[in-house]
Amino acid sequence: MHDALPRGGLIRKLWIGQADLYREHLLRLDRESRRSRFAGAVSDQFVCDYADLAFGIDVVIHGFFVDGTLRGAAELRTVGAPILHAAEAAFSIEKPWQSHGVGSLLLERTLLAARNRGYRQLHMACLAENRRMQQLARKFDAELSFDFGGVVGEVESWRANPLSVMQELMEDSHGFATAMLDLQSRMLRA
Ligand SMILES: CC(C)(COP(=O)(O)OP(=O)(O)OC[C@H]1O[C@@H](n2cnc3c(N)ncnc32)[C@H](O)[C@@H]1OP(=O)(O)O)[C@@H](O)C(=O)NCCC(=O)NCCS
Repeated sequence: MHDALPRGGLIRKLWIGQADLYREHLLRLDRESRRSRFAGAVSDQFVCDYADLAFGIDVVIHGFFVDGTLRGAAELRTVGAPILHAAEAAFSIEKPWQSHGVGSLLLERTLLAARNRGYRQLHMACLAENRRMQQLARKFDAELSFDFGGVVGEVESWRANPLSVMQELMEDSHGFATAMLDLQSRMLRA
């Protein structure tokens, strides 16, 4: 599994109020990636409305930043009634950063977040021809079992434990500290 990000890269959760960063990232996706992300062709207006409404208490978005610009994202959101313990995950990485292990790291973080929130089922709206997303999901087959016809991933026998909660907390603290340092060094350079 990849454990290094492309140069200058950092993964952290997006904060409430960063819908503009998410919108700009989604609008930068090339046509094919946008189609894969939304499982069909969608307009700029659809993308803008989607990003504006994306943030909520039942949503966790991990972002991949390069020099302060959001270049990739993984969204985890509750679907259906809470009793179903089901969530949907969706990934978007801008073309120049695809196939560099970013999707693998984002899925790893998303699975940890899903586990800590007690989800048992993870749905991914993935087009049948999206081989790369399917390959990516297969890398996690110890934790996910997939039915690509129905595009549903089942989170296997997961339970949050103190270690998994601690791991997410540490990643959040690290993400916050690194974002602050990154901002400071970019302000000094400007
Ligand atoms: C699908 C997507 C999330 C994958 O992320 P990524 O960062 O490109 O993927 P990774 O580099 O982590 O590679 C994951 C696996 O996919 C496979 N893969 C990588 N590049 C590939 C390519 N060009 N063709 C086919 N498979 C490929 C490999 O098996 C790889 O694992 P490995 O490098 O350990 O062998 C990303 O490409 C993307 O955002 N695409 C556009 C939007 C999309 O399809 N979203 C998914 C729908 S929710």
